[in-house]
Parts: sequence; C-alpha cells; structure tokens
Amino acid sequence: MASIQIINGPNLNMLGVREPGIYGNCSFESYLESLRQRFPDVSFDYFQSNTEGCLIDKIQEAGFSHDGIILNAGAYTHTSIALQDAIRSIKAPVIEVHLSNVFQREEFRHHSFLSPVCMGVICGFGMDSYRLATEALLEKIS
Ligand code: DQA
Repeated sequence: MASIQIINGPNLNMLGVREPGIYGNCSFESYLESLRQRFPDVSFDYFQSNTEGCLIDKIQEAGFSHDGIILNAGAYTHTSIALQDAIRSIKAPVIEVHLSNVFQREEFRHHSFLSPVCMGVICGFGMDSYRLATEALLEKIS
C-alpha cells in the first residue's frame, strides 16, 4: 500500500470559510474523505499547521516514513528558504500543489522557493489539485 503524507500550510485550516470565491466552499477534511474513497489502496496521512517550524518538522519526519509528500505550503511557498532546505534534506519526492492558479494572481505569488526542489507543481484546479498530485505520485513511486 502506498503511503502519502499531505501537508497543508498556513490558513489552509480555513478552507471552506476563507475567500470561497478563490478557494471554494469545501473543508479539507471533507475533501480528504472523498480522496480516501477514490484511492482505497493509498494510505493518506494529513497534517496542517500555521507554523513554519512545525511544517519543517513534519517534512523531515514524513520524508523518511512515506512514499511521497503532497505539499501546499500556502504563503510560505513564496517566502521560505527553510522549507526549501527541508525538502532538499529528505528522501521522499514532494509535489507542490496550490488550489488557485497562482500565476493568475498577484505578482508576489508567481515566485516559489519550493518548485526548484519539488518533483513537480500542480496548481489551479481547486481541491482536484490534490487528486492530480496523487495520480502523479503513484505513477512515480509504483
Ligand atoms: C495557495 C496560494 C498561496 O499563494 C496562498 O498564500 C495560499 C493558498 C493555494 O493553494 O492556492 O495560502 O497555496
């Protein structure tokens, strides 16, 4: 059974409430339920934190215990060299995801410190970005 760690960063605990015009009306917990049903042979673990250090701790841990990581680092994507270093340090491949198409938004969202060290990037498909990332990871690790 493939094991995938999903990690969501700051403000993504507010999905369903936060700017629904951009991020939709669904909480991540209820979306995760449908993801688990769609991929019964995948073991998904989910972690969310608003704190950069906690995200680093989780990347370091999951990077040696899971087959792959799906990471939506929220705004830390655009600011965090420390998250880049954490991704560089681990064994598991990481896919960077975003719900919104960051390239259609403010210019400060166009740069990612994480993309150069991730296996790939999926953005702009809402929650479906996580399903697409799962498919991509399964191709890579199977
Ligand atoms: C986001 C895009 C980021 O720019 C933003 O700061 C977020 C969410 C997304 O999923 O679209 O918090 O990562």
